[in-house]
Amino acid sequence: MNKLANKVVLITGASSGIGEALARVFAGEGARLALAARSAEKLRALAGSLGGGALALPADMTVPAQVRQMVESTVKHFGRLDILINNAGVGMYAPAASMAPEQFEQVVATNWLGPVHAIQSVVPHMRRQGGGQIINISSVAGKVAIPWMGAYCGTKFALNALSDSLRMELAADRIQVLSVCPGRIHTPFARNAFRDTTTRPLSSDGISAERVARAVLRASLRGKREIVVPASNWTLVWLHTLFPRLIDYAMVRYLRGQMRK
Ligand SMILES: NC(=O)c1ccc[n+]([C@@H]2O[C@H](COP(=O)([O-])OP(=O)(O)OC[C@H]3O[C@@H](n4cnc5c(N)ncnc54)[C@H](OP(=O)(O)O)[C@@H]3O)[C@@H](O)[C@H]2O)c1
Repeated sequence: MNKLANKVVLITGASSGIGEALARVFAGEGARLALAARSAEKLRALAGSLGGGALALPADMTVPAQVRQMVESTVKHFGRLDILINNAGVGMYAPAASMAPEQFEQVVATNWLGPVHAIQSVVPHMRRQGGGQIINISSVAGKVAIPWMGAYCGTKFALNALSDSLRMELAADRIQVLSVCPGRIHTPFARNAFRDTTTRPLSSDGISAERVARAVLRASLRGKREIVVPASNWTLVWLHTLFPRLIDYAMVRYLRGQMRK
């Protein structure tokens, strides 16, 4: 049976990687989808491949008016909005002490301010409907900071804190908040990230985007508060809590060769 039949799901960053996998997995459970990103052609192709019922919504998460419009267009088209998945994001590889301000600001606007604007736009609709769900795609890098990724990590720590605050604030409105912390996932993320001339992106090895999407679907259906995917990454989170100096030391030793030119 389709577990999400007639549920309307808005997915940001749906043109690639985890967002595209989320679209396929949620469509497989009967959800009606609104797909957002800047790449209009890719969105239209994806919407077509899902059977034509999905709505392609070109939008830039760094422009608040476009984010609001994305939400309003979804509600206008489908008449409701049950699940918002804040997935759009961009990485940045550069030393925190010298990162370029315009790139840093772009990362903050995409990964942190954009989701806040989206959430503020969907909550009135969800309250009126009597409930809903907000899923924020954060990162293990929002629990344990990685050297030469300070700007990116900062946005994901902020997103995790926002999810925790919102969960408490919105529980009475029957709006659930799920925080998703993927580890290393095989997508074009590293290739698409900002970087300076001294830093190399991490390799894009890792588990598949589809595995993340399936874990998100399960957690969404069960009303979970937080998941780490793959779950083995909890070991790093706990070790860092218990032995922060040791993990800092190991992380620099392990990553210097991979990330510094
Ligand atoms: N891959 C990993 O290892 C990993 C690990 C942990 C967390 N994550 C998180 O997972 C999420 C998805 O990343 P991914 O791995 O699937 O990377 P990806 O393949 O590069 O996808 C990023 C998506 O975000 C969209 N996007 C970027 N900037 C945007 C903007 N200004 N406005 C609207 N959309 C924008 C891109 O679409 P357009 O370019 O068409 O706009 C694309 O659809 C991100 O939040 C990322 O931080 C990834």
